[in-house]
Amino acid sequence: SKKAFIFDLDGVIVDTAKYHYKAWKKLANDLGFDFTEEQNELLKGVSRVRSLEILLNIGGVNLPEEEKIKIMQDKNEHYLQYITQMGQDEILEGMHEVLLYLKEQTIPFSLGSASKNARLILNQLELIDLFDAIVDGNDVSKAKPDPEVFLIAAEKLKTTPENCVVIEDAIAGVEAANIAGMVSIGIGDKNTLNEADFNLNSTSELTIEMIKELIKE
Ligand code: G6P
Ligand code: MG
Repeated sequence: SKKAFIFDLDGVIVDTAKYHYKAWKKLANDLGFDFTEEQNELLKGVSRVRSLEILLNIGGVNLPEEEKIKIMQDKNEHYLQYITQMGQDEILEGMHEVLLYLKEQTIPFSLGSASKNARLILNQLELIDLFDAIVDGNDVSKAKPDPEVFLIAAEKLKTTPENCVVIEDAIAGVEAANIAGMVSIGIGDKNTLNEADFNLNSTSELTIEMIKELIKE
């Protein structure tokens, strides 16, 4: 039956992962510890609050609740400085074409992101009107790998999980898609994302040919 697509945002539609990393790294350094790109993999796809917990854990730092709220705000302000400079040229390779193709084929698609900045980012990229539904960090109570975000997206697209294809770059996201009973496509290192149904090195490998195969009924 008819397929539907759910796209993660950060690291799939746009490379905001590098800005998240810069902002978290600065925070870690300010607190007196280092934070590597490898460790950053653990933060991908994970909510802001959970990311901070993981980061503080890595640094072995304990902070009172008010201080955590304060530094999360600082992190987001720093992050937003990058985001508000972004334009369509930062859409990851091939993704604009994929979205336009799905639109043309009347295949429904949703965003399924943990970010509370998702709408702002899609506006910056001038992509927001293409989406049939948007489910983001403001709509969910449970962070990936909980499947909640993708299950809500399926519902909004008026389809069932087994018809959904999820595009993800995060371990937590691939896991969430699998738990939801959806087809998962992992973008990035295939050893890191070894639980995905399909692995692609980068978005440029998500070709129109592959989309055609995926939507065959
Ligand atoms: C995405 C990113 C995470 C980020 C989370 C929350 O899932 O991959 O790295 O922490 O969204 O984003 P936000 O924009 O709400 O801080
Ligand atoms: Mg992501």
